[in-house]
Amino acid sequence: MRILILKSNTACLENINPKSPASSGRFDVVLDFVLECLYDNRKVRSDTIIYVVLSGCSKERILMFRGDAIPYLESEDDLLRLILRGDVEVLDEGFEDLLNNLVRKGIKLFCLYEEGVDIEKIDVPCNNVGFIIGDQDGFKIEDLNIMRRVGVEFISIGPLPYLSWFCCVFVNYFLDSKCREA
Ligand SMILES: C[S@@+](CC[C@H](N)C(=O)[O-])C[C@H]1O[C@@H](n2cnc3c(N)ncnc32)[C@H](O)[C@@H]1O
Repeated sequence: MRILILKSNTACLENINPKSPASSGRFDVVLDFVLECLYDNRKVRSDTIIYVVLSGCSKERILMFRGDAIPYLESEDDLLRLILRGDVEVLDEGFEDLLNNLVRKGIKLFCLYEEGVDIEKIDVPCNNVGFIIGDQDGFKIEDLNIMRRVGVEFISIGPLPYLSWFCCVFVNYFLDSKCREA
């Protein structure tokens, strides 16, 4: 099982303008992340679960996308329609609860962080592994403190800041290559 988590400090379900996701707490970042993480050459990654932590409004909530349950979606518009129709599971829990629950289930968690340890120097497991990625502005201090409390390891894919969706594509590429050889 592979888990990818986006921590968005600006997006939430309460204020989405379907005509302009980019001006709705940067919901465009959420849509790009889910589409780029979940699909592999027009196939859904059935071994993957994506969580999007929506911290943009007062009540934190989490969208959950299961690769083995979601239909193939052509575009951001299709994905947004699915979310607005209520056809996506919404967890009524916060970031710290999610991380603690995953750790309890035996998932090894890593945070993608520019100043972390080089990913090539870390023994990243092929299975039961999760990656937490920040939004367009990166993590807040509180996010970093929560991840430190939970025992998340901080890893870097280089000194340059990449877009959130790109980090997720990189992690998939990294694990696909490493785990195919294993
Ligand atoms: C657009 S970046 C955020 C950049 C922002 N300047 C910041 O303060 O972090 C979005 C997220 O992608 C991940 N990321 C981007 N570049 C990275 C890198 N070189 N190594 C590890 N993670 C990276 C981090 O999780 C980051 O929070």
